Amino acid sequence: MWRQRLHLEPPTGWMNDPNGLCYFKGKYHIYFQYTPEYATGEGLRCWGHFESPDLINFRFTGTVLKPDIPEDRTGVFSGSALPNGDKLEIFYTGNVENEGYDLILEGREANEIHVTTEDGVTMSEKKVVLRNTDYPDYCSCHVRDPKVWIEDGKWKMVLGARTRDDHGLVMIYEADPSDLDTWTYVKRIDIPDFGFMWECPDIFSIDGHSFLSLSPQGIGSQEYKWQNVFSAGYFKYDKEKDLLTDFTEWDMGFDFYAQQTFSAPDGRRILIGWFGGGGNPYENPTTELGWQHCLTFPRELTVADDGFVLQAPIREIDILHVSERIINENETVNICSPVELKLQVGSNINIRIANVELNIEDNLLTLVHLDKAYGRDIRKVLGDFEGELRIVIDKSSIEYFVSNGRYVLGTRFYPDTEEVSLSIRGAQAKMYELRPMEVIIDGE
Ligand code: FRU
Repeated sequence: MWRQRLHLEPPTGWMNDPNGLCYFKGKYHIYFQYTPEYATGEGLRCWGHFESPDLINFRFTGTVLKPDIPEDRTGVFSGSALPNGDKLEIFYTGNVENEGYDLILEGREANEIHVTTEDGVTMSEKKVVLRNTDYPDYCSCHVRDPKVWIEDGKWKMVLGARTRDDHGLVMIYEADPSDLDTWTYVKRIDIPDFGFMWECPDIFSIDGHSFLSLSPQGIGSQEYKWQNVFSAGYFKYDKEKDLLTDFTEWDMGFDFYAQQTFSAPDGRRILIGWFGGGGNPYENPTTELGWQHCLTFPRELTVADDGFVLQAPIREIDILHVSERIINENETVNICSPVELKLQVGSNINIRIANVELNIEDNLLTLVHLDKAYGRDIRKVLGDFEGELRIVIDKSSIEYFVSNGRYVLGTRFYPDTEEVSLSIRGAQAKMYELRPMEVIIDGE
C-alpha cells in the first residue's frame, strides 16, 4: 500500500543520499546510499544503482560499490560522478570508524576514493586520492562528500568539512584532467556561525548564476525556517569574491536532506534529494515491512528574476498523465495516487489530502498532519503566495511546489487505505491521474 509509484526506493533495506547523479552513454545513472540488509539504518553503507534512458523507466542493478578495502572499511559514503569520454569517473568518501575514539577529533578516517566504470555497474580498482593527512590542519576528522565538475580546463572538487573548533565549511581542490588521482588544495569557503558541519556540498551555475548547495548541520531551528533537525539549502555564490549570501531552503517540509544536482543532456539542471533526513523525531512505518526511505521526484531548476531558484517536477511527469479532470472549489473526491494537481493560488486556500492539510492565509503557509502522523506535526512558512501551485501525490508522499516553485515542501504520509480523500477550498484545481513509472529489479 505504501510502495511508491513515482519515487525511487530500495527493494529492501535502507536508502539515504542520492549519489553520482549523471547522464552517461545514453542513460541516466542514479546511485544512492544503500544498506540492503537493514531497513533501520544500521549496517554499512554501500552504493545502490538505478539506470534509466528517460527518467521514467528504471532498472535497479543492485549494489555496485561495497566497503572492501581498508580505506572504506566502515562505509562507502556519498560522492559524485562525471563522464569523461567513454569512462565515468566516480569519487566518494571511504569512511573508517575505529572503536574507542570520539570520531570527531580522533579515530575516524575520511578517504576520498576514485573509481571508474564503463557501464555504470562494473567498477575499476579503488584508488585513494586524499587522506586525513592531506587536509589542512584546521580540519577535524569530518571531511566528506566529494562533488566534482570541470571549470576552466581543470577538474574541481568541493568537499564538506567540520573544523576542529566545530565550524562548517567547504574546501575546493583541483586536478589536471590528465591526472585525476592528484588533487591540490585551492581554498576554503565559509561564513561565520553557520553550523558545525557542511555535508553534501555542490557548486553549480544556471544561466550565469552560481550557487553553493549544501546540507548544513547545527544551524538551529526557528519558527518559520530550518524546522528540521538538519537543514538543506543553497547560497547564492559570488565566485569572484567568494561571497555566500541568502541561504534558502530547498524544501521546507518534513522530509528532505542531502540533495545533489546534475546536468541533463539538454542542459537542464536537475536536483534530487533524499526524501528523508537524519535526527528528526518521526518515523516511517515501512521499516517493519523491510524497507525505508525514497528519493524525491526529480526537480528542474530555473532562476527567477531576483536570482532565487525555482523548482518544478521534471517535465517528464507529463508523459505519465493518463487522464485529466477538474476538481471544483469545495468539492471532496476520493483519489487513487499517483496524482498531480495544478491550481492558481489566491489569498486563502485550504487543501486536505487524507489527514494532511495545506493552508495558505495571506502570507502564512502551514502544512499540518492533523493526526501527527508518525511524529510529523506542523511546518510554517512566511512568504508571497501567488501563481501556480503544483502538488505531486504518491502512495506515501506529497510534494507541494508553491508560488511557481519558489517554496517547496515535501512530506511522507502513510494513509491506511488505497484511496484517500481530497478536498479543496478557495480554488479550483486540475487533477491529472498518472501511470506509475516502470522499475525493473535486476540485482540486490
Ligand atoms: C548525509 C550523509 C553524508 C554521508 C552519508 C553517509 O546524509 O551523512 O554526509 O556521506 O550521509 O551515509
